[in-house]
Amino acid sequence: MAEVSAFIRNMPKAELHVHLEGTLEGDLLLVIAERNNISLPFDDPDGIRRMQNETKTGLTNNLVNFLRCLDICREAMRTAQDYYDTAMAFVRKSAAENVVYLEVTFDVQQAIRQGVPLAECIEALSRVRREAKRDYDIEIRWIACFQRDHPVQNAMETLNLLDPHRDEIVGIGLDNFETPNFPALFAPVMAAARDRGYRLTSHCDVNQPESLAHIRDCVDLLGVERIDHGLNTAQDITLVKKIVSQRIALTGCPTFHVSMTSAPSDRVEMIRTLFDAGALISLNTDDPAQFGSGYLNRTLAACQAAAGFTDEDMIRFMRNTFESAWIDDRARSGYLERLDRFRDTSARAVS
Ligand code: HPA
Ligand code: ZN
Repeated sequence: MAEVSAFIRNMPKAELHVHLEGTLEGDLLLVIAERNNISLPFDDPDGIRRMQNETKTGLTNNLVNFLRCLDICREAMRTAQDYYDTAMAFVRKSAAENVVYLEVTFDVQQAIRQGVPLAECIEALSRVRREAKRDYDIEIRWIACFQRDHPVQNAMETLNLLDPHRDEIVGIGLDNFETPNFPALFAPVMAAARDRGYRLTSHCDVNQPESLAHIRDCVDLLGVERIDHGLNTAQDITLVKKIVSQRIALTGCPTFHVSMTSAPSDRVEMIRTLFDAGALISLNTDDPAQFGSGYLNRTLAACQAAAGFTDEDMIRFMRNTFESAWIDDRARSGYLERLDRFRDTSARAVS
């Protein structure tokens, strides 16, 4: 396990690809499951991570196994209070890591399916956003994610239900399995979301069937500005040039599927290739409670150690994060200046 350096610890940080449900730690999961009368297949806080790591198999199966385990957590969330408690726990963790800005995804259809009134759910998230700013000086923006393994019609209906809450949601994403033909299938929903002014992203998980075609179609058919993961881009030089020239951001997650050791080498190599090619790639945690691969500091440290990135490289990754964030130019300049000041101060301290 890579040590977290003072440099990484003290850097003002942000992340853009993290699922609220994937931040639900085992101890809080037990509390939430008990108050909702839900029985879990384990009774200790480490149960979910154990299950995640024990059911890891082949590369492609990893996503299936991962989502099955994640379902155990996200299916336990039945009230707006569950969303509030989970989100506040994540805010407190992020504050301890010197995180200053977060874009957090939540599976809105899942909340509705599980009986959480949408207005209450959004109000809980709104309260978290305000309290994170007031108590920790962390800026949060919420991304509502639609699940690709549920009917596209349901995504469209959910988009309509979000209309009264438009101001609380910055963007729309797509997650869960990559069903065949998914980019084309979801084009009408994403077009409707764009018409309403939402920013757009979509998952293209690592090493999935048709990864390259899906990445291309997400850009060309869905018009996304970011791809969550999208690392397979590195395997096609034409696609690399396309995402660099169109400034499509990739939210990489180096330690996904890692159990307490280090970042897997194929991911790290793809991240290195994309970084060296000048892609707007950032480093993120995805589902930090699920694998024991840690929150942002440990994720950055593991990736830095595995790929031999310098501290200056890590600053560039964090610049990429702020460059890809869905904020206005004034806020962006503020964060970038803060990062520059940190870099200059650290350089002076070393020299
Ligand atoms: N991929 C797809 N669905 C997800 C993920 C992911 O990385 N995390 C949570 N839901
Ligand atoms: Zn994700």
